Amino acid sequence: MKKSIKSISLTLVIMMLAIIVAACNKSGDKVSVGIVLPTKDEERWLQDEQRFKDALKDTKYTTEILFSQGSSAKEKENVETLINKGIKVLIICPPDGDAAAAAVEAAKKEGIKVISYDRLITKTDAVDYYVTFDSVEVGKAQGQYLVDHAKGNGQPLYLYAGAATDNNAFLFFEGAWSVLQPKIKDGTFKIANSAEAVALQGKETLSRDEMSKIVGQVTTSWDPNEAKNKAQTHLTAAGADMKGDVAILGPNDGTARAIADVFATDKAVTSYVISGQDADKASIQYIIEGKQSMTVFKDVRTLVKDAIGMAVDLLDGKTPATTGEYDNKKIKVKAKQTKVIVVDKGNVRKELIDSGYYKADDFTGL
Ligand code: GAL
Repeated sequence: MKKSIKSISLTLVIMMLAIIVAACNKSGDKVSVGIVLPTKDEERWLQDEQRFKDALKDTKYTTEILFSQGSSAKEKENVETLINKGIKVLIICPPDGDAAAAAVEAAKKEGIKVISYDRLITKTDAVDYYVTFDSVEVGKAQGQYLVDHAKGNGQPLYLYAGAATDNNAFLFFEGAWSVLQPKIKDGTFKIANSAEAVALQGKETLSRDEMSKIVGQVTTSWDPNEAKNKAQTHLTAAGADMKGDVAILGPNDGTARAIADVFATDKAVTSYVISGQDADKASIQYIIEGKQSMTVFKDVRTLVKDAIGMAVDLLDGKTPATTGEYDNKKIKVKAKQTKVIVVDKGNVRKELIDSGYYKADDFTGL
């Protein structure tokens, strides 16, 4: 009798322990903030991953970062994985703004708050907040740099754009067009590689549909290979009057380096000025060597800080502070916007090394 009571209580203890272990495991699996980034194939998003990791080191909240590798299907899967882990807030940057609607709608159904990160998720009401850089300003800075470094009159201008699935590509182009168009109109530049842009060159501001026509023609899809192929095609088709000293609207650093490499090997191109953005390490090296003219430094530390700050406010039941709104073609999304900094050879050390963003020994010839 005594023995059986003992064994029953032992079994009970074991069962209770098993329940506790199971419960611990479950809470160990729990994640409060899920982060989904578009791809590991571009330096820009590895930068964001690292800055998230740095910022989250000491937080009491559990987080997990997943990558979608340019696929909206993978992105949906990632969001479902995170929903199953019990996230309360989703920070997400989509490969395709329209296609991501389904993923965030699934999250919203579970009562999860959604923060669109850097790229706006479009055509859905399932986005609560947006953290972003001033993307129109990015495009303006790129265009302005080409204007400020224009040589003489009638200079060939090559236009390139980001991915048509990325809302930012339109904001960048809108900003660039606003400063380039007057200089096309007054004869400083002549468009070298886009019949659609030539057809619209008299228009100061373009509608989304008009921009789509140009972007469709000169898109790089944010892919350096596509950028390289397009640049080769354009230079093969260009006559001598479209060579010499040229200006190039490079949409971001990865594609700018690919385009610059092509222009650098054409003997009929005597000089080129090319823009970029992101302050990729590889592009900082190009700027030091004079192979890329400028970049727009988007301090990812600030964007990460804003996104996490918002997430923590939401977890604590507070309303995050915002600075404006963005129309996502369905609703106006409350947004927090961050400034950008123009970087070229002249201020690269001050902005990127002295600010502690990169280490001097990451580069040669600085
Ligand atoms: C944009 C982003 C840029 C650039 C590009 C390519 O949405 O704002 O910084 O990295 O995507 O990934």
